[in-house]
Amino acid sequence: MISSNTLQVLMSLLQEIGVDEIISPSPHNRFKEKNVERKSKAPSSSTSEPSSSASSFAPPVSRKELSEAACIAAQSANSLEELRKALEGFEGCSLKHTAINLVFGDGNPKARVMLIGEAPGADEDRQGLPFVGQSGQLLDKALSAIGLTRRNFYITNIIPWRPPGNRQPTTQETEACLPFVKRHIDLVSPDFLILVGGTSAKALLGGRDGIMRSRGLWKDYRSEAGKKIKVISIFHPAYLLRSPGQKREFWLDLIKIKKSLLEAEVKLEDGA
Ligand code: URA
Repeated sequence: MISSNTLQVLMSLLQEIGVDEIISPSPHNRFKEKNVERKSKAPSSSTSEPSSSASSFAPPVSRKELSEAACIAAQSANSLEELRKALEGFEGCSLKHTAINLVFGDGNPKARVMLIGEAPGADEDRQGLPFVGQSGQLLDKALSAIGLTRRNFYITNIIPWRPPGNRQPTTQETEACLPFVKRHIDLVSPDFLILVGGTSAKALLGGRDGIMRSRGLWKDYRSEAGKKIKVISIFHPAYLLRSPGQKREFWLDLIKIKKSLLEAEVKLEDGA
């Protein structure tokens, strides 16, 4: 019998390592599941006819191979629906297996403005929609003050599956998902890109500067299809929730964005 003290320690340990949600009412012993058993077996030594265990033995895939597979899958999509299907069928990012839902995108796919965040959190994972949790609500509120709503912008993330415990995506995860984001940009084909937070800015623009230095500066982004798109990075709303002192810079960036959008005759919502 486990004492309540021990239980409490175990619960906080689980929380610390990122287990903050119940995804199944009963525990599963993954080691006993057939697929796992077969995958971990060495291939049969017989060279004539591969046994069923040998045929399901998967050799490790290099990062280069993964990235190539992602590029081929992403490039084969000619519509957002096809891109969603390509992501659903993509096995190169293990986050897929811990997430509840694929978080693909939201808003107006014909919009001239596209926003790209980092990765879904718990609320987004549950609802299958980007930026619907606390930080998303803050972002929506701030954007609506400059006339941008999900009727005139489109929004997605670099990573479409929630990293467990909301940890930062790894370089490998970002590399595996990047071809899909790049294709996403070409299929939406916006005139303006707003990169929300440092992870998104780094993934799409590269460079050495962190978000503290790179935010608020308009640059040119050349899409895979060759379109020149104006791009700007802004603070992530989750950062603003932790550091409200940075809201002034965030507002200055939004004012700058509004000015450029008006100059380019982007239709903003009334009241802004
Ligand atoms: N943070 C992100 O970067 N994206 C979301 O969808 C939610 C929170």
